[in-house]
Amino acid sequence: MHTANLVPLDIKINVDSFLLEIERYNDNFFRWGDRYKEYPRYAIPLVNLNGKLDNDLEPACYPLDRWNFLQTGLEDNAENFIDYVFNMSHFEKSDILFETSFKSHTELMEFRSLKTLEPIKKYMARSCVFKWHSMGHLLPHFDTWHPTKWLRLWGTTDPEKMKIRYKVSGGGFVENKLTNKFENYIPEKNIEAGRLYLHDSLKWHDAFAFDDEVYQFFIALNVDSYDCIKKLKLC
Ligand SMILES: [Fe+2]
Repeated sequence: MHTANLVPLDIKINVDSFLLEIERYNDNFFRWGDRYKEYPRYAIPLVNLNGKLDNDLEPACYPLDRWNFLQTGLEDNAENFIDYVFNMSHFEKSDILFETSFKSHTELMEFRSLKTLEPIKKYMARSCVFKWHSMGHLLPHFDTWHPTKWLRLWGTTDPEKMKIRYKVSGGGFVENKLTNKFENYIPEKNIEAGRLYLHDSLKWHDAFAFDDEVYQFFIALNVDSYDCIKKLKLC
C-alpha cells in the first residue's frame, strides 16, 4: 500500500478557495497539545468526538499518545511517558482514544473547497487542519504500528514553506529524543500544494514550517477505506 513515504492521491484541494474559507475560523484554532507552546502550532478539527468547534479541551488537537498518557494520572515525566508509549498494553484498562474513536464531522467539512474529499468522507476518523507559523515543528516520531488500524493522509497549502522528512538509514545529526540516537532525515521533494498524499506514518518522520500561516491537512481514515485509497493512488 505504502509504495513511497508519500504516495500522491487523486484528491486535490483548491488552495485559494480553502484559504478564503478558513479565514473566518481564525479564532477557532487550538494550540496543538499542551507542550512546546513556544512553537506556533495550531489546529482545528475536521472530525472530532462531538462535531463542535468550541470544546474546552480538544483531544482531536493533541498528539493522542500524549492525551492518553495525561488521562492515566501518572507523574508527568519523560521516563513515565516513554514507558507508556512503548508498553501501551500495560494500560489497557484506561480509556484510550484511538484515531478511529473520532467520528463526528465539524462544520468545516461543509467547505466548498473540501468537496473534493467526498470519496473519502465516510471513512474519515480523527482529522484536523494544522496552521503553523515559522519555527512550528514536530520532532522525530511515528504515529502507528503494525497491524495498523487506520491510514493517514497528509497535504499542505504551501510546500515551499513546509517540509516533511523521513528517516533514512545511516547516521546523521538529528537527535531522536525517544531512542537517544543521532539519525538522518531527508525532506520529501516535489510536493504539490493542495494535493493529498498517503503518508507512511509507521516510519520515523519530522516536520517543519519555515514561514507563517502554512496549513496542513492531517487526515486519518479507518481501514474500510483500503480499496478506495488503492484506486485513488496515482502511482
Ligand atoms: Fe506524524
